[in-house]
Amino acid sequence: MELLDQIQSIVREAETALASAKTENDVETIRAKTIGRNGAFTALGPLMGKIPPEEKPVAGRAFNEAKQTLLAKIEETKNRIADSAAESAGETIDVTLPGRKWHAGRKHPVCQTFDECCDIFRRMGFIATSGPEIETVFNNFDALNAPADHPSRSMVDTFYFADGRIMRSHTSPVQIRTMLAQKPPVRIVAPGRCYRRDTPDATHGVYFHQIEGLYIDTDVSLADLKSTLMAFAAEFFGEGIRVRMRPSFFPFTEPSVECDFTCVMCGGKGCKVCKNSGWIECVGAGMVNPNVLRNVGYDPEQCQGFAFGMGIERLTMIKHRIEDLRLFSENDVRFLEQF
Ligand code: DAH
Repeated sequence: MELLDQIQSIVREAETALASAKTENDVETIRAKTIGRNGAFTALGPLMGKIPPEEKPVAGRAFNEAKQTLLAKIEETKNRIADSAAESAGETIDVTLPGRKWHAGRKHPVCQTFDECCDIFRRMGFIATSGPEIETVFNNFDALNAPADHPSRSMVDTFYFADGRIMRSHTSPVQIRTMLAQKPPVRIVAPGRCYRRDTPDATHGVYFHQIEGLYIDTDVSLADLKSTLMAFAAEFFGEGIRVRMRPSFFPFTEPSVECDFTCVMCGGKGCKVCKNSGWIECVGAGMVNPNVLRNVGYDPEQCQGFAFGMGIERLTMIKHRIEDLRLFSENDVRFLEQF
């Protein structure tokens, strides 16, 4: 078959040319001439059209195989040229040198806790959501039932921008964003960074991380909140951790509770870390205040729910027995490598 002969001679010629190619440019020229868009293979097109149908499969296969062979040869030649260039530049590999250790990075402990929390809550049906760190005063305070003269606002007074927006002081504004964007039911967790005007010490920083939870439906109670937190604590810290609720106050929940987990250091017997109480305060929570529901256009007669917020650094410190919050932001690999 004339076509097969032609294919073969293109390949043979190209192979000879490649064998004596000295530069990448030489290779590129050969490539363009053969398998390039205006190359010899493309030129065979009309011949291909003329061959009888029964010979088409054979011709087609030969055509493709020849192309593959050439592609491989071209790669090979490129590598040969690159190697010899490196060699003549004196870049030989000294195989007697000791190997260099490869330091793989890892996730920051705070991110690991985020991942773990989101994973646990995801298995309970909570969808992980996020919101911006620069927030409106409405989302951060007003819609959460904390008007301008509310004392809780000065407690967390935060960083203001000239246009009146702020660095969010908690992840609770994600509740507002989510509820404004969708109808009930809602079941989300929102991990993220928050900012407060604090003087850094072992337990305070100007920023920290929280995970917020929100569950709104037609029939949600404080008992659901407790069982959710119990399930979380058992997964995160291990079986045997108990959850205790104490009355508290947040403008966005009514009733509000503070939740403690059994101290993981002493198992509840009392130690320095839990100040001999056997409990460690970990969660702010409560039933979403009807005013908050009204602020986002929900009907408190139709739905209700719980919300909670937990400090990620705190959870991480308890779990790994870390004593100083500042370690999280110092980026000392000797610390980070342990997790
Ligand atoms: N936003 C609160 C804080 O930063 C934590 C919190 C308390 C979140 C109660 C909630 C909640 O969703 O219901 O201290």
